[in-house]
Amino acid sequence: MRIVDWADETEGGPAVVLLDQRALPQRTEYLHLGTVDGVIDAVRSLAVRGAPSLGITGAYGVALAAHLHGTGTADARAAVRADAQRIATARPTAVPLSIGVRRALAALEESPAGVLAAARAVADEAATINAAATRRAADLVRERCPDRPLRALTVCNTGPLAAGPGGTALGAILALHADGVLEEVLACETRPLLQGARLTVWELQRAGVPHRLCVDSAGPAAIATGRVDVVFAGADRIAANGDVANKIGTYMLACAAARSGIPFVIVAPEETIDPDTATGADIVVEERGADEVREHGGTLMTLPGTPVYNPAFDVTPHELVTAIVTESRAWSPAPSASAPRIAASPH
Ligand code: MRU
Repeated sequence: MRIVDWADETEGGPAVVLLDQRALPQRTEYLHLGTVDGVIDAVRSLAVRGAPSLGITGAYGVALAAHLHGTGTADARAAVRADAQRIATARPTAVPLSIGVRRALAALEESPAGVLAAARAVADEAATINAAATRRAADLVRERCPDRPLRALTVCNTGPLAAGPGGTALGAILALHADGVLEEVLACETRPLLQGARLTVWELQRAGVPHRLCVDSAGPAAIATGRVDVVFAGADRIAANGDVANKIGTYMLACAAARSGIPFVIVAPEETIDPDTATGADIVVEERGADEVREHGGTLMTLPGTPVYNPAFDVTPHELVTAIVTESRAWSPAPSASAPRIAASPH
């Protein structure tokens, strides 16, 4: 199943085609987006989400702009560039979105077909990148925690929906399952939009992986009481010093993992490490609308008009990160004196 794809003119296009993640797990619906505004709206409303999937969408969005405006004149190219800028800034935190846009835009002097080919390359590379990163992460954890079935905890959704074929953090968990060394996954529900409850549970069930769902605040308690051997999370942007921006709720899991001496492992494409962002303090954390917190399924859960704080992400300091695993390396950004211990917790 392609999560983000391209439809040719012969198919009624050109259009960016997305599996609408807002409808899952109840319904499997596809969006055919024939306008750049439609693509931007899908990104903002989380019809497509997850950093690598946003990168693929951004690249196809630029290909759509190139098909709609053409690329043959300076005016047409300026219009594509303006659309590209709007797509790249539709959400501020995930670095792959702007990278996907930039890579497609680099082919702008060619034909619209050239821009599409560049976008397809972004999409096609995801499978290879994810396979390498998830294998490396699974091997690292097996090495550190040998001789027993593993109980993993994860947050948000980092499977193929979020990252293309293979996924990232959830992909490492799937690799451990395929290796026959995974006992169970605890999936944090991931308030307020429930990417864990709606999407991770859906992917785990389809893959036949034993799992239980927990509320976000149960995650640290599960770690503290010895119910978890390893925490896996993805990343939206990693600063040059190793500070990690990921879904809100990640930081408390890293604190709990460090205190209990279990590995806290980030799995992400190398491109997520942003050399232009020195530390986590430089990362722009997206704040989303108040109704996401005030309401649930369209029902008001608090008093009307209650002021809300709704950051989509938090930043985990590098001291708390055991390893950042990408397609090309496993990087431990914590200074060795404060590196989280990798200890065997009692089963
Ligand atoms: O707001 P979302 O659903 O786009 O947030 C997604 C996450 O935080 C993921 O953990 C991250 O993008 C990595 S996806 C492999």
